[in-house]
Amino acid sequence: MKTSMIHRTYRLSILAIALPSIVCFQSAMAETRENRSGKVVVKTVCVGCHETGKDGAPKLGDQAEWAKRASRGLSTVTEHAIIGIRKMPAHGAHASLSDLEMSRAVAYMVSGGKAIDPSKPYSSPSQKTGKQLVKERCSECHATGKDGAPRIGVMGDWKPRLQAGVENLVTSAIRGHNKMPARAGMANLSDTDLRAAVTFMVVPQQPPQP
Ligand code: HEC
Ligand code: HEC
Repeated sequence: MKTSMIHRTYRLSILAIALPSIVCFQSAMAETRENRSGKVVVKTVCVGCHETGKDGAPKLGDQAEWAKRASRGLSTVTEHAIIGIRKMPAHGAHASLSDLEMSRAVAYMVSGGKAIDPSKPYSSPSQKTGKQLVKERCSECHATGKDGAPRIGVMGDWKPRLQAGVENLVTSAIRGHNKMPARAGMANLSDTDLRAAVTFMVVPQQPPQP
């Protein structure tokens, strides 16, 4: 009896020490996890200027203006938001926003709110599978290797790129990478869509579809 009491007290005190540090660790993770959605970033940060059009900022919902800007390429527009252009401050003057969060916010604005977001696996706005996206969009360059695009089904093209991990490839597809256009040029593709398409290209025999 006595020994088990001691034992229990001992276990409890371990928990008392361990729990707060686990909680701490998790909240630190949450802050650095780059998981704010485009919508959240736009509504909390970008509205400051883009709601009213301050200093000539293209207004939220002004799709004609956004389309004009996006015609220069989603990658260019995203890059401008990240590094800043004229009176648009780099990262919307919020250094804590990651490039990924910025790219989501830009996609959200350019698509007029149709780009939805990351961590919800089955909320793809396009409702398309990775296979369909690859067929309809990615294969335009990735079938033949246009501009040096790694070819679908050619393992040798993907192997060196895969060394940094699939997640890095997904990030490249979202943000753009050299001649790979951000979100393959389609602002309304969600992170989830891009992940599905990349995974399909890299592992075509096992498309991880919902
Ligand atoms: C302090 C005001 C301000 C804030 C905050 C701000 N913007 Fe801007 N933004 C501007 C202005 C002004 C322009 C127009 C720049 C120009 O083309 O001369 C602009 C332009 C842009 C463009 C178009 C770039 C191009 O290539 O045409 C994008 C994209 C953009 N902002 C994204 C964002 C995002 C995303 C946020 C929030 C994270 C944000 N902005 C926050 C002022 C702001
Ligand atoms: C307009 C042509 C074009 C389209 C369309 C396109 N890509 Fe690419 N992609 C490229 C090129 C070119 C590269 C090689 C870029 C480099 O690394 O220099 C590339 C590279 C990539 C990479 C490797 C990035 C890295 O970090 O090595 C991934 C992943 C990728 N594309 C995914 C996609 C997906 C997913 C789609 C469809 C939703 C798509 N691409 C559509 C041209 C395209």
